[in-house]
Amino acid sequence: MSAASVVISGMGTSIPDKVVTNSDLSRVVDTSDEWIRSRSGIAERRLAGEKETASTMGAAAAEKAIADAGISKDEIDLVIVGTMSPDMPFPSTACLVQAQLGLTPVAAFDVIAACSGFLYVLETGTQLMRSGNYRNALIIGSEKMSSILDWQDRSTCVLFGDGAGAAVLSLSDTPNIGVGQILLRADGSKMDLLNMPAGGACIPPSAESVSARQHFLKMNGKEVFKHAVREMGDITLETIEKNGLTPEDIKCFIPHQANIRIIESIAKRLGVSMDRFYVNIDRYGNTSAASIPIAMWEARQKGRFGPGDNVLLTAFGAGLTWGGAIVRWTA
Ligand code: ACO
Repeated sequence: MSAASVVISGMGTSIPDKVVTNSDLSRVVDTSDEWIRSRSGIAERRLAGEKETASTMGAAAAEKAIADAGISKDEIDLVIVGTMSPDMPFPSTACLVQAQLGLTPVAAFDVIAACSGFLYVLETGTQLMRSGNYRNALIIGSEKMSSILDWQDRSTCVLFGDGAGAAVLSLSDTPNIGVGQILLRADGSKMDLLNMPAGGACIPPSAESVSARQHFLKMNGKEVFKHAVREMGDITLETIEKNGLTPEDIKCFIPHQANIRIIESIAKRLGVSMDRFYVNIDRYGNTSAASIPIAMWEARQKGRFGPGDNVLLTAFGAGLTWGGAIVRWTA
């Protein structure tokens, strides 16, 4: 880490009020609480209301993160949103967040990296901060997954949920704290495993694309599962090594919450007991880019890590994309 460290100075979340249990879903598609729990670890998820979107949830999470950082909105000079369920194809959800927060005309843009979105915005924000051109950056993971799910496809609709998490990145003169080395990876040759086929230039919206249900998320769950287990395990180990640490140096592991069995396999691979992994998939399902910041905020609230502790973040998602990061906690 360089002398000018980039730290997470504040965090916040926005979780929709509406709780939808597995039993509720068994009235929508042919599924059961037992199937969803045993295959994924999910018991319930939150679904956004009609007026809640990636931008409104993102802005609400950001307000809390700014308050948590103890700064004013005027001190934010960069907004980056990770989302795969934006309010609209353009303008970016980050621009909508910026407007809703009433920020000055600071830079705002989105990053599409699906479930790895928060790690991608963390790296983008951190490196831009290190350029010296920004004092405080808002990085947000926000998803209205319910708007891109096919509610007739039981193999996907039971797995996801809505929500947002935000963090403020700030510069600190204290060396060796905050965001460490982040590793990001992608393999676009596997784009067929998880995507939303229509709505872009390849398949522009048409009556045919709508009736073929091509505007919804499609996933080959079995294949994605295999890649997630392998790649998240590898990148977690590599991230720890590249940061000059061992698994024992990590106080709290915060994995992307896609499937409890994926998380258990990473713990086993590392030889680390599950009680050092933060898990909330049972309550929220997979909230994609919002998953890591929501889990990190909760883990911090519950005292699972504190000042000086190393926290490991790891994610995997469509692209395929994946990555790992170490944050030495400060606040
Ligand atoms: N309820 C009941 N049965 C179901 C359901 C359901 N909701 N969904 C599928 N089934 C059936 C299937 O039809 C299949 O039946 P069949 O054997 O008669 O054909 C059977 O259950 C088994 O299905 P599998 O796909 O083999 O189940 P598996 O154990 O692989 O678990 C799951 C499926 C949970 C999707 C898993 O593969 C998984 O978690 N994949 C990874 C997802 C992931 O990590 N995503 C991360 C990125 S997400 C992003 O970037 C947006």
